[in-house]
Amino acid sequence: MTAPAEPPGAAEEPFAHLLEVAWQLAARAYAPYSGYAVGAAALVDDGRTVSGCNVENAAYGVALCAECGLISELIAGGGGRLVAFACVNGAGQVIMPCGRCRQLLSEHAAAELQVLTPRGVLGMHAILPQAFGADDIEEMRDHDRDR
Ligand code: THU
Repeated sequence: MTAPAEPPGAAEEPFAHLLEVAWQLAARAYAPYSGYAVGAAALVDDGRTVSGCNVENAAYGVALCAECGLISELIAGGGGRLVAFACVNGAGQVIMPCGRCRQLLSEHAAAELQVLTPRGVLGMHAILPQAFGADDIEEMRDHDRDR
């Protein structure tokens, strides 16, 4: 099989490392229903690498995306902010995190989280503009308090 085409930035650190880890995780995916393996890896602001793979279920709707495992590892390992993220499919191709997982990542993103996409490295704000977040909840609390 020919090596998948790499997007701009993929060969540079930290993405070369994250792609290697994501690729290893994709090989451990449990995806018997879709047949679509995903591995995800991210660098944390304290230097840790966190990762995950998708875990499907006979009740299709409760499938866990690879990013769910990654965020679980982040929080269980003491938290922190994500500074770089990449995910790949079972063919080793860089893929976009799904919409739900962009939201999941956004909650734990460093201000300048860099995401490797099929079109190169993009900031979190570029792939989830005007994200809903903790500030929106806080604003409503302030609003209710002032009433
Ligand atoms: N999947 C992920 O793990 N992450 C994504 O960001 C996209 C989709 C998984 C969910 C499901 O197990 C399979 O890919 C096919 O949708």
